[in-house]
Amino acid sequence: MNSQQTATLESLRARLEAALAARLPPPDAYPPRLHQAMRYAADGGKRLRALLVYAAGEALGVPLDALDAAAVSVELIHAYSLVHDDLPAMDDDALRRGRPTVHVAYDEATAILVGDALQALAFEVLAQDTPGAAAPAQRLAMVAVLAQAAGSRGMVGGQMVDIESEGRTIALAELERLHAHKTGALILACVQLAACAADGLAKARRQALERHGRALGLGFQIQDDVLDVEGSTEQLGKTQGKDRAQAKSTYVSLLGLTDAKRRATELFREADAALADFGSSAARLHQLAALIRQRRS
Ligand code: IPE
Ligand code: IPE
Ligand code: MG
Ligand code: MG
Ligand code: MG
Repeated sequence: MNSQQTATLESLRARLEAALAARLPPPDAYPPRLHQAMRYAADGGKRLRALLVYAAGEALGVPLDALDAAAVSVELIHAYSLVHDDLPAMDDDALRRGRPTVHVAYDEATAILVGDALQALAFEVLAQDTPGAAAPAQRLAMVAVLAQAAGSRGMVGGQMVDIESEGRTIALAELERLHAHKTGALILACVQLAACAADGLAKARRQALERHGRALGLGFQIQDDVLDVEGSTEQLGKTQGKDRAQAKSTYVSLLGLTDAKRRATELFREADAALADFGSSAARLHQLAALIRQRRS
């Protein structure tokens, strides 16, 4: 990874932070406690999903202005999913992004409402007609993509099966399906959102990007399972060893560490291979995939 590319990923991250801060209601807006908690929940994080929206857009020649709303909205959905994932009724986690979780820093009712409000805001952001935004028909397509990925046939569906699978041994194919839903769907949506903003996109290119997104999404969650075992609470910014403590079905619990890592490596290779026809326009996507592959938090 050369320093010029690193600098540019950093500038994209800064772009996302500014776009997000501009779209969250001010912290003193009525009711201030809710809006402060929303900012608390949306703060921090690696912003990998937003970066994936921008990187996929770059591969397709889409201007960044047309991608800001999609990048912000996917991070809003992700932040909401973490707030609810951490609730006592779900994974019951006290630490997130190196700080107390929202229900600990505030209270449980506030955390539920923060999730609800972040989710609604994500769709408001997509609907807004701002200068440089994607065309109305493209934004309508984005709304459909994000709603499907976030809902019962996507992330929320995966979360349901994740909870149902606690304390049980499920088949590997079922675990793959679970992971593809709870985490993969939103990561796949990142490249699909960028595709929505590309004029006259050839089907083969969209499908290649989707292959990339699917492999990356599953690889990402397998790696999350591995890091839950191998990482440290300090490095992760969330409690290490939670999966085992809660008898979750994970790639590590089913395959063991070595085979889980082997599967992740295979998927990252697949993700790279899917981009073969994009040539140098996919440089940022390759760079991001490498960053994800190397992540320790
Ligand atoms: C964590 O995602 C939750 C999973 C889907 C595994 P990230 O590791 O991308 O979390 P942040 O946004 O950087 O905190
Ligand atoms: C979370 O999966 C997926 C979401 C939809 C938030 P995990 O429960 O493994 O995520 P972490 O490990 O708490 O970040
Ligand atoms: Mg969970
Ligand atoms: Mg969790
Ligand atoms: Mg996890």
